[in-house]
Amino acid sequence: MITTLEWTPEGVLFIDQTRLPMEEVYVTCRTYQEVAVAIRDMIVRGAPAIGVAAAMGVALGVRDSSAKDVPSLRADLEQISKVIGATRPTAVNLFWAIRRMQETFESLAAKSIDQIKAAMVAEARQMHVEDIAANKAMGRHGATLMPASGGVLTHCNAGALATCGYGTALGVIRAAIEAGKNIHVYADETRPFLQGARLTTWELTKDGIPTTLIADNMAGTMMRLGKIQAVVVGADRIASNGDVANKIGTYSVAVLAKEHAIPFYVAAPWSTVDMSMKSGDEIPIEERARQEITHHGGKQMAPDAVLVENPAFDVTPAKYVTAIITERGIAKTPYGEAMKALESAETVKA
Ligand code: MRU
Repeated sequence: MITTLEWTPEGVLFIDQTRLPMEEVYVTCRTYQEVAVAIRDMIVRGAPAIGVAAAMGVALGVRDSSAKDVPSLRADLEQISKVIGATRPTAVNLFWAIRRMQETFESLAAKSIDQIKAAMVAEARQMHVEDIAANKAMGRHGATLMPASGGVLTHCNAGALATCGYGTALGVIRAAIEAGKNIHVYADETRPFLQGARLTTWELTKDGIPTTLIADNMAGTMMRLGKIQAVVVGADRIASNGDVANKIGTYSVAVLAKEHAIPFYVAAPWSTVDMSMKSGDEIPIEERARQEITHHGGKQMAPDAVLVENPAFDVTPAKYVTAIITERGIAKTPYGEAMKALESAETVKA
């Protein structure tokens, strides 16, 4: 099993995803500021992993605070939350996790400082356990939607590396294979950060899952040639109307899938759903450095004078989404009603 992130007494341990697939290196972040940098610099990435990393960062900061009373510890928690909350804007799991840690703190405010610190660490570790349980549940629901045999296209990395283990979209694929389905994965390379080429192919081939890497601009041709029977991707934030923010390029894949009458599935935990957002238009989209576009493998590929846009995510309107797979069940159009029904549904117990 791949260790994406883990709580240790010394701090939060991460596999350094910027160095995969050529080097398997682990780093320990010993302060909450180091955790914030790991999230910002994408040592850890993927919405659910970012969420649990944030929770562990908050727990680390609170545990190591020198505050002598609860009001001072609360002030420290606010500062820690501010620093971690400023790292990446799109994946709502980050804010969901910080809020959950703040709520945990408030529920403990009558306890001693030592009890609060221990309970905050326990809560962050519990979120790690719950994330894997949610992925397994998503896998069970989603496996039923996968073809008995054929090609499944995925974009970016929504696997074990993007979560605490097993994965969301790749969890659905893993569960389908465990159920005896004969699936061949097509992985988009996912320019510009190459999460597909570097991470998805790494974890799938490690598991012996047949995987073909394609450049992003080949997806349409693969579909036209009949090689793709379904698409499954993850999400960074899902609005209450079913619009989905995910890695840049997802929207193009969804439009192509519709044109070829191929089902397009999104797999995400309920912590990725933002019921406060009416539509995807409200979702903040992270803009990243121009060098990610102008350079490739450390080499400049475009002139200095050129203007660059580098939105890290796009929004796929709900009309292109065949189903949203969560640990609570599957939502289909009309999404407004389906998402409300899931909101009141029982959550998965870890
Ligand atoms: O920029 P990244 O690598 O954090 O983006 C990740 C994605 O877009 C994933 O598809 C999404 O977070 C879902 S991960 C289960």
